[in-house]
Amino acid sequence: MADQDYRINKLISAKSIAARVESLAKEISTHYADSEKLIVVGLLRGSFIFIADLVRELDLPVEVDFLEASSYGNKKVSSREVRILKDLRGEIKGQDVLLVEDIVDTGHTMQHVFTLLQSRQPRSLEVCALLDKPSRREVEVNIKWLGFEIPDEFVVGYGIDYAQRNRNLPYIGTVS
Ligand code: IMP
Ligand code: MG
Repeated sequence: MADQDYRINKLISAKSIAARVESLAKEISTHYADSEKLIVVGLLRGSFIFIADLVRELDLPVEVDFLEASSYGNKKVSSREVRILKDLRGEIKGQDVLLVEDIVDTGHTMQHVFTLLQSRQPRSLEVCALLDKPSRREVEVNIKWLGFEIPDEFVVGYGIDYAQRNRNLPYIGTVS
């Protein structure tokens, strides 16, 4: 296996994440208490661990679906193009939908996906993000439930990668 030529410094411990996920799930369960069913949509791939932990703490009838978006950052212009690589399997019209994302950074990915799902006329559509880097925001995103606000640093772990590595770390760390 190739050596890793960078260091990872722990930013958020596994214990802190678990505690935060538990309290987010309580808030979400309360909010949707009268819902017939909640469709939890995870954005691949970064949200896969977060969504797995979150749905197990939800005291609600839940369905899980996934969507994969790819963004191409062009360093020379501020606009970003977002492509849908994998769409939802199910219909969301008339349903309560919760979009689950790992990190909201510039906001382009979430804004694009939110607008797409909104056009399918769900009964409701909200966003839950584990991490937010507000200092990097370029377009507005309304995050209803947020795990942690973090500084403008590159992070890995708990599903989040650096060149596809480190997703399996149980904690979140910064790369240096
Ligand atoms: P946005 O469109 O700029 O908001 O990009 C959000 C996406 O970029 C996230 O879903 C992540 O996949 C990725 N991303 C942003 N910041 C980081 C980071 O610090 N580590 C790993 N991926 C990141
Ligand atoms: Mg992502």
